[in-house]
Amino acid sequence: MKYRCFGRTGWSVSELGYGMWGMAGWTGSSDEESAQSLQRAADLGVNFFDTAWAYGNGRSERLLGDLVRRNPDKRIYTATKVPPKNLQWPSRREYTIDDCFPPDHIEKYVHSSLQNAGLERFDLVQFHTWEDSWLEDSRWMRKVDELRRQGLFRAFGISLNRWEPWNGVRAVRSGLVDAVQVIYNIFDQNPEDELFPACREMNVAVIARVPFDEGTLTGTLTLESRWPEGDWRNTYFVRENLRASVQRAEALKALVPSGMTMPETALRFILQNPDVSTVIPGMRRLRHVEANVKAAEAGPLPTGLYAELRQHRWERTPTWWSQ
Ligand SMILES: NC(=O)c1ccc[n+]([C@@H]2O[C@H](COP(=O)([O-])OP(=O)(O)OC[C@H]3O[C@@H](n4cnc5c(N)ncnc54)[C@H](OP(=O)(O)O)[C@@H]3O)[C@@H](O)[C@H]2O)c1
Repeated sequence: MKYRCFGRTGWSVSELGYGMWGMAGWTGSSDEESAQSLQRAADLGVNFFDTAWAYGNGRSERLLGDLVRRNPDKRIYTATKVPPKNLQWPSRREYTIDDCFPPDHIEKYVHSSLQNAGLERFDLVQFHTWEDSWLEDSRWMRKVDELRRQGLFRAFGISLNRWEPWNGVRAVRSGLVDAVQVIYNIFDQNPEDELFPACREMNVAVIARVPFDEGTLTGTLTLESRWPEGDWRNTYFVRENLRASVQRAEALKALVPSGMTMPETALRFILQNPDVSTVIPGMRRLRHVEANVKAAEAGPLPTGLYAELRQHRWERTPTWWSQ
């Protein structure tokens, strides 16, 4: 496993990190299988794990706490997220700090997350939604500072809304955040425009999330793909999105060289960018952990392939189904 510097924190994090939403929120998860996959990842050198209070109301945080306790000899970096008080994803321009992150709410949920995980502190606490306009309201900053000084977490970050990397550039430039979590993959290359240069300048860590576009970039979706009732993907991959996503994934398949897989191509594309500190694919299965570790270890893509993949940028803006 290769490690990268996590911005100004100086932490040495595995370039392949671990996304822990699916195991607590998507249908078909088993805690036993998740625990085995988490352990395998830690044994293979993965040391950055991203969870959130909202992932199963603490279920994912509990799995992370258990992993930390099972591995006292390993340095495991723990990242969680405070949910917005109104429990609305994505955030909207009109939401205020009082709607989403009033000081008492931040404090309550940091404590609740620590309790879920059974940990004394997290390495990183993030706001689970973000609006750059919240920089005008200093109440959240004072609370974040106070909780950090109490030793409840070491660093603070924000997680940006889907397809709105521009809506975090001011926060990065403000010097108030240590890390930014953003969707970055073969389709969604737009963080490269403004966000990544700002992160580079301010030495802010970049957590690249949703590397497979929620599944599209694994190449496994078809026009007939449906999920069990209650699985959020039925509301994301609505007909309009599924059709466009499958078409674009099919166009990519032709580029994948023999001996390589589409998920491998997707991960290596992201890791080719040195602005990325860690990429956090959602993984529940042992075989996915092993395949993704192997992909990360394979290093840069052939130059010609990388250039071709860059042509598959897909400009998207939030819409009624995008969440
Ligand atoms: N607002 C936010 O802050 C926010 C929003 C979304 C995600 N996130 C974070 O980002 C992480 C990653 O995003 P995500 O989980 O939504 O989507 P993702 O990583 O783009 O895709 C996850 C899907 O890829 C599959 N997969 C993983 N490795 C694979 C492989 N090698 N071969 C084939 N399929 C593979 C998983 O399979 P299985 O279904 O079998 O597990 C799952 O269906 C989350 O877990 C979470 O930590 C944060």
